[in-house]
Amino acid sequence: MSSFHRGRLIAVEGIDGCGKTTQAKMLSKALGALLTFEPGATALGKEIRGLLLDVSLPHPVARAEALLMAADRAQHVDEVVRPALEDGKWVVTDRYSGSTLAYQGAGRQLGVAALRQIVEWAADDLAPDLSILLDVPVPLARRRLASSAPDRLERLQDDFHERVREGFLSLAAEKDWVVVDGEGDTPQVHDEIMRAVERRLGLPGSRRFPSEGG
Ligand code: TYD
Repeated sequence: MSSFHRGRLIAVEGIDGCGKTTQAKMLSKALGALLTFEPGATALGKEIRGLLLDVSLPHPVARAEALLMAADRAQHVDEVVRPALEDGKWVVTDRYSGSTLAYQGAGRQLGVAALRQIVEWAADDLAPDLSILLDVPVPLARRRLASSAPDRLERLQDDFHERVREGFLSLAAEKDWVVVDGEGDTPQVHDEIMRAVERRLGLPGSRRFPSEGG
């Protein structure tokens, strides 16, 4: 197995409505990194995403949901993430393994420990160099999502999302995680993320924060 790569992998994680899509975009731009996402970044993944989130389809049982998320990741790792890292690029992914552990392990109550081996195997043992948890309280996340059309998982009750948030907070006690308070305004949260990345990983190539304009 070729596990050596020169780039760095950063995962941005959190509950729906935490602001991670905006922050992942800003982070990738500031780092000059490839921006990608889960589920659905490959042609196969796009189909899997439809199966998982379409409200008009029958709901998969929790184990099927976990395995479909893992299948999406397996394809994503081999097709997109690992080739970029081996090419020396930095990669920012909007969700990664932490989401399966938090949503299916904690939220859907399959158990984080039970899923861990499957999740690591599916990712071919490619772990993020840093996972950033953008933490916000569930009611705030709900308010932020109020104007968008909810997908199947977003329609689940608040107690599900509370379990997911708690799941993320437990994961974030592990060594390659950092928790950023997502309640501040967008530029403030971005600055905090940049400081965390610089502190934990340094910055790629000659990039020096914050001399990049815009
Ligand atoms: P995402 O694309 O981040 O949501 P949005 O379209 O609102 O930006 O994620 C879609 C949903 O999939 C979200 O509810 C979280 C869920 N999800 C899991 O349950 N497990 C996983 O492993 C992943 C990657 C996502």
